[in-house]
Amino acid sequence: MQGVRVVRGALDMARQTQLLSDLREVARAAPFLAPVTPGGRKMSVRMTSAGRVGWVTDARGYRYEARHPSGVDWPPIPGIALDVWRTWSGVDRDPDCCLVNLYGEGARMGLHQDRDEGDFRWPVVSISLGDEGLFRVGGTTRAAPTRSVWLRSGDVAILSGDARLAFHGIDRIRFGSSGLLRDGGRINLTMRVVD
Ligand code: SIN
Ligand code: FE2
Repeated sequence: MQGVRVVRGALDMARQTQLLSDLREVARAAPFLAPVTPGGRKMSVRMTSAGRVGWVTDARGYRYEARHPSGVDWPPIPGIALDVWRTWSGVDRDPDCCLVNLYGEGARMGLHQDRDEGDFRWPVVSISLGDEGLFRVGGTTRAAPTRSVWLRSGDVAILSGDARLAFHGIDRIRFGSSGLLRDGGRINLTMRVVD
């Protein structure tokens, strides 16, 4: 779909389960936050990060920060996520940030571009876990036509080349469609090179 590559079932069930358990450790060290847009809107997803820097948003804007708001360092990116990056990114440099989005029932993410990074020649690689999410992708203007695809647990999506700055978002999730997260929900990881 418009240059966004989707790799179905890139992670088998054993790796999905291991990655989920690694993410519980990430969230223990760097708890999920309830992000607010610079314009003051509460986002419906919960967020945290792993890596050298983490992506945050609040009244001061969208940005990468060296520490979680609690003052702790962001935990390391789980090895399974790094393996996915090394396999599918097509680049020989590791990511600086792995943003972790948690979608509970009714959560969504509006159409946006990932453009807080310094160099858009590096791709963004995303991993989906848990419930299915309806991923919408368009072009590099908000008005461009969009297409949608359901991302399932274990799928990987790569935004690179012309698609690196494609508008994208999650319209809705099918809450309870996967048994991976005991209480339902979807987790999406997006890895980025920041500088
Ligand atoms: C994002 O764009 O940060 C998340 C995309 C997704 O949840 O699949
Ligand atoms: Fe994004």
